[in-house]
Parts: sequence; C-alpha cells; structure tokens
Amino acid sequence: MDHMGIRAATDVDFDAIEKLLAAPVDAAAVRLNRLRERDKQEDKLRGLDAALRAAPDDVVLLEAKAHCLKTLERRSELLDVYRHLQRLAPARADLRHMIAALSGAQSPARASDDYVRQEFDSFAENFDATLANWLEYRAPQHVADTVRAALGEGRTTAATIDLGCGTGLAAPLLRPLTKRLEGVDLSPRMLDRARARGGYDALFEDEIGRFLASRRNQYTLAVACDVFCYFGELAPAFVAVAVALKPGGLFAFTVERCDGDGHVLGASGRYAHSDAFVRAAAAAAGLALLSEAEVTLRTELHRPVIGGCYLLRRA
Ligand SMILES: C[S@@+](CC[C@H](N)C(=O)[O-])C[C@H]1O[C@@H](n2cnc3c(N)ncnc32)[C@H](O)[C@@H]1O
Repeated sequence: MDHMGIRAATDVDFDAIEKLLAAPVDAAAVRLNRLRERDKQEDKLRGLDAALRAAPDDVVLLEAKAHCLKTLERRSELLDVYRHLQRLAPARADLRHMIAALSGAQSPARASDDYVRQEFDSFAENFDATLANWLEYRAPQHVADTVRAALGEGRTTAATIDLGCGTGLAAPLLRPLTKRLEGVDLSPRMLDRARARGGYDALFEDEIGRFLASRRNQYTLAVACDVFCYFGELAPAFVAVAVALKPGGLFAFTVERCDGDGHVLGASGRYAHSDAFVRAAAAAAGLALLSEAEVTLRTELHRPVIGGCYLLRRA
C-alpha cells in the first residue's frame, strides 16, 4: 500500500479480474464483494496480530481476531483463538459451544440454554436490521406460506405457539392465520423486542422442551422459524411438540440442510440436518409428514443458506 492506501500494481490479480468481468453481472458483483471483504479482513488481521504481540491476552483484540478469522473461514486458527480465550475465561458457554463446533468433538444434543441466552441477548438489538435488511432472511415467510397453503385461503387456526419466537418477526405473518398467538423463547432481550412489536396474546421466557411439556393438548399449530439450527437431536423436541398439539394439529418449521443421513454442527456454531434425519425424528415422534420444500433461508458470507421447510401433523 502507498500512503494513500492504493495497492501496488504487483499485488493485482489480473486473472481474477478478467474472470470476474467475463462472469454474468450479478455473480461478478457478488464475487467482487467477497474479494473486497477478504482483503479488508486480512488487513485488519495483520493490524490485530501486531497489537496482540504487545498484549497477547487482550480479550477485545482476541475477540476481534476471532471475528476476522470467522469471516475468512480459517477454522484451525479460529479454534486456537477460542481456546486461548477459554483459558482466560473458562466458564464462557459461547466458547464451549464454538470449540465443540470447530474441533469436531462430540457435539452436544443441542446448544446449551446459557449459550442461546447469551448469544441472543447480545444480538437482540441488531437482530431485525441484520437479518431482515442485510441477510435477506426469509424463514418466517416460508413457514407462514406453508401454513397458509395448508389451512386454505382465508381460513384460520385456533391456537398457535411460535417456538423460539425471537423478536417476533413471524408475528405479523402468523396473526392473520390464527385466533390466538403465543410465543416462547429463552432470551429475555429478544422477548422484549417481540413484546414491543406486538401481535402476541402471550409471551413466555422458557426453554422450548421444558415449556411444551407443561402445555399438553393446547395448540392447533406450532411453528419454529430458524430455531432447530440450535438443536442437534430433533426427536426430543418433536416429541414435546406432539404432546402440546391437539390431535390433527400442524407443525411447520425450517432446518438448515446438510447432505447424508445425519446432522452436523458447523463452524458457524449452528446445526444442519439432512432430510432423512428430519423424517426419522418426525416418525419417532408420531408426526406424519405432509410436505417438505427446499428453500433459501438467508445469505451468509454472500452465499445462500439452503434449508428445508416442513409441515407435519399429529395423528
Ligand atoms: C435465529 S433466531 C430466530 C427467531 C425467530 N424465530 C425468527 O424467525 O425471527 C433463534 C431463536 O431461537 C431461540 N432459541 C434457540 N434455542 C432455544 C430453546 N432451546 N428454547 C427456547 N428458545 C430457543 C433463540 O433465543 C432465538 O431467539
């Protein structure tokens, strides 16, 4: 770089630019953004490494380095940084979760309550702006469209529970489809936002499985938009949903998709599920599969996140 921040011509990758110009406009723009973002993060990383040489245990610097490495998808260095942070703060639930995700160690059956609460309490303020405006988040729309099609145009259901309701992005979409709408979530800050948005008849701060166990035969519809990415095993949650649904009740939800027949905890800290795994969990809970569709849930690092949107029914 010269003093005006202009990169020397020797650094320019002319092959990459030529390929970008030859590609269709949209794809080229996306890839150019990705390259720009990588450059920015690599510059930042060099600065952070220099600062960390003087203050190796500075938590703010280490967190910033982790953020850069995550964006650059440099998993093994990211794991080292998380392990370093864990030595400084052994009780942090987020570090335990991410180390399990990155090291490929036996992943927990679901993200711990502490991790979910901590993650979403700190994200609550920016959640709507980040997901809806930036990442083209569509899970609530897919779920609402699925429910609307199942009920039939203009029809409503009696009582709905929005599992992991978060800030309530699904509320305005579900409200016309149900006479009563309740929400449950572990994160008090996300629930504050949902309360402020309105649309719910009742909101509960609780863990989904624990909450549903106390709501036997209460609901005609359960929905979960982008929530099972915090669950590895699905069968226990599906059994809890089956218990809380009335006979004939519907259950619509999304999952992030992975290949094969199992589930994985990815470097993002989120779980993805294969279609076969979802179907097996539904069968184990005695829920019949009515429909499944492949959907784009949102974008991440400029790439679409592919998922499945399912509709199940209690016999
Ligand atoms: C990605 S957000 C989605 C929020 C909302 N459904 C939406 O579509 O905007 C996931 C939400 O699930 C909640 N969550 C995750 N695991 C949970 C659990 N076991 N019990 C209750 N809430 C949970 C989180 O607190 C968070 O608000």
